Amino acid sequence: MAGTTYLITGANKGIGRAMVQQLLQRANNTVVAGVRQPDDPTSASLCDLPVAENSRVVVLQLRNPADFEALPTRLGRNSITRIDTVVANAGNSSGLDKSLLQTDPEDVVGDCTINAAGPLRLFRATWPLLEASLKQASSLPAARFILVSSTMGSIGVQDTESMPVGTSYGMSKAAANWFAKKASIDFKAQGLVVGVLHPGWVQTSMGQALADALGMKEPPITADESARYCLGQIDDWTMDKTGKFLTYKGQELPW
Ligand SMILES: NC(=O)c1ccc[n+]([C@@H]2O[C@H](COP(=O)([O-])OP(=O)(O)OC[C@H]3O[C@@H](n4cnc5c(N)ncnc54)[C@H](OP(=O)(O)O)[C@@H]3O)[C@@H](O)[C@H]2O)c1
Repeated sequence: MAGTTYLITGANKGIGRAMVQQLLQRANNTVVAGVRQPDDPTSASLCDLPVAENSRVVVLQLRNPADFEALPTRLGRNSITRIDTVVANAGNSSGLDKSLLQTDPEDVVGDCTINAAGPLRLFRATWPLLEASLKQASSLPAARFILVSSTMGSIGVQDTESMPVGTSYGMSKAAANWFAKKASIDFKAQGLVVGVLHPGWVQTSMGQALADALGMKEPPITADESARYCLGQIDDWTMDKTGKFLTYKGQELPW
């Protein structure tokens, strides 16, 4: 298995899709695009994206616990025996437009299931494949697990930039950040690089939902711009930066 293998969740639209599109424009990449509904037109059209020499996309359903548990076997059927970079990008919120008092505790449970338990589930499923990458590391950059999080999950940022809405989302991303920090410490000795990335405020369905909640026209950057900056950070995420929380432009954020 030559080249570099990426797995990106939430790949059918938004920032995840833009990352898949840009990685496929580089030669020698295998990109596993994790989606909830492979038959949805947004997912199926991933197979029509332009592809550079020796690159390919594999669209895979990642929806039910069983999909994750069977991941190594399912990838094996596509001759994929390792993953070099996992990007835990899938995310959602049912409470982006709600203040603290409007937030139902069930919103928190829902957001934490997707945004915090989801990346843990992904990590458990992909660790054997990342470990396989680490075993071949002499010719590759270190294996990486990158969590796409948000400044809204930063406890430190709240002192200067607290939003009036998005309580359940912020709580879920804070929990996800804790998981990623923990993974960075627990897996450092094995050589795994773990990073937490804020992708900017981006023109996607989620970014627009926040703009609507705040009465603003639209977020400042496109998904393509965000993905370009994010991939730049991911390419450069070496062991000296494991366990860091960075913006898409590389600025370090407080937890
Ligand atoms: N946009 C921003 O301004 C912004 C800012 C900071 C952080 N982020 C983070 O960036 C990441 C990507 O978001 P985006 O802006 O690209 O939003 P998006 O366009 O709404 O895309 C979200 C992706 O996550 C998937 N997803 C949603 N719920 C899921 C679930 N329960 N299980 C599996 N996949 C699920 C969606 O799949 P379906 O199409 O099937 O729903 C979609 O592929 C998220 O983690 C988000 O929190 C975004």
